[in-house]
Amino acid sequence: MIRVNQAGEYGAAQIYKGQLAVMGDDAPDSSAIHHMAEQEQVHLDAFDKMIAERGVRPTLLQPFWKVAGYALGATTAAMGPRAAMACTAAVETEIDAHYKEQLDALESENDPELTRMITEFREEELEHKATAIAAGAEETPGYPALSAAIRLGCRVAIGLSKRI
Ligand SMILES: [Fe+2]
Ligand SMILES: [Fe+2]
Repeated sequence: MIRVNQAGEYGAAQIYKGQLAVMGDDAPDSSAIHHMAEQEQVHLDAFDKMIAERGVRPTLLQPFWKVAGYALGATTAAMGPRAAMACTAAVETEIDAHYKEQLDALESENDPELTRMITEFREEELEHKATAIAAGAEETPGYPALSAAIRLGCRVAIGLSKRI
């Protein structure tokens, strides 16, 4: 769980980095994206710390997620501000489901620290999704196909990062 979550938070931070690199700081959505990026950094720092403390091997795919996350962010931002937000809505939909699944599994484990982290981060991921929808994510041309492709990509990334 810790490996895949660290990988996911790392990927999320890279997505927003890629979006902001394309959009710059003066676009209408830049400050909202900055805020989400800062929260992703807190999530990532927390899992980085936990990976070290508990001796979890990080995913070997990190160099790949660095490029893939950044490229996803930059590409969607280049498509326009709504596409950037469609990306966030799609990613957070999958992360929400992923964290929910982990919380269900943790019910039979005694790990209050991890449970608390995931509960808290999941709430923020849902805020990111709400921000993205409010910013017009669903009005992106081709939204259903774009969203489905990104969601599939997330599920593949989650599946790989659990093991590799
Ligand atoms: Fe996050
Ligand atoms: Fe997020």
